[in-house]
Amino acid sequence: MTTATSWTPTGEDLATAYARHADSLRGALRHALVTRALLNHLPAEPQRIVDIGGGAGHQAIALARAGHIVTVIDPDAAMLQRAADALNAEDDTVAARVTLRQGYGEHARDILGGEPVDAACCHGVLMYLDDPAPLLATLVDTVRPDGLISVLTKNRAALAMRPGLEGRWADALAVIDQTTETGNLGLPSRADDLDSTQHALAAAGATTEAWYGVRVFTDHLGDTPVGADFDQILTAEWAAGTRDPYRGVARLFHLIARRSR
Ligand SMILES: C[S@@+](CC[C@H](N)C(=O)[O-])C[C@H]1O[C@@H](n2cnc3c(N)ncnc32)[C@H](O)[C@@H]1O
Repeated sequence: MTTATSWTPTGEDLATAYARHADSLRGALRHALVTRALLNHLPAEPQRIVDIGGGAGHQAIALARAGHIVTVIDPDAAMLQRAADALNAEDDTVAARVTLRQGYGEHARDILGGEPVDAACCHGVLMYLDDPAPLLATLVDTVRPDGLISVLTKNRAALAMRPGLEGRWADALAVIDQTTETGNLGLPSRADDLDSTQHALAAAGATTEAWYGVRVFTDHLGDTPVGADFDQILTAEWAAGTRDPYRGVARLFHLIARRSR
């Protein structure tokens, strides 16, 4: 089994660092952009969704608010506790739509009792694995024929953009041809090529339906908090993330694929 190599749960430290990031402008934009894209691809009727590496539940809660039924699978107890706390603050109807299960994504089929779901999400997880292919194959295997697969990961083609826009010239040069770097949580993490991710999904039986760039204009803004201009920034990021050439230099790419029938 392939498991996380870089994301070694350290209890509260990592969960706290991730919560800080998720509350920042960059984190809030990421979740809002991914939710917007996903809801465009999912039918309005309630779908059964698994969120592999769903962590503190940001995506699961957004999907549950839209009426979907979500199981979060994550190995990190501290992240799942954050998700449980966030669910406690939700309306009972929304909270009842989310189930939290501790475990590795590679075991998703078993954890779900062998029942295929309508959609599988895996956001911000591949970068912590040495080899993304086995988990990508698991995602495809977890959904029913014609089911949706949603993958968000770090864009290798744009690795030098953040240090470059921050004026860290030596760092920009150091990563320009690399596949790993240290991200904002202080962990080493890997970046992926869009093409190789699409090929790995195709080899597992899923075809790309669309892809989006996530954080084109704002990735160099550090821990800038969410401000009154959030909706305006979101609109600009969405416009850039949905068209070339801008989406190609986004920090993350969000790939939506569909399992063959
Ligand atoms: C950066 S967080 C992202 C959380 C969430 N998906 C989001 O977008 O907010 C990465 C999460 O991946 C989880 N993770 C790491 N390796 C995993 C694996 N092999 N299977 C499932 N989850 C994993 C970690 O425990 C952590 O909660």
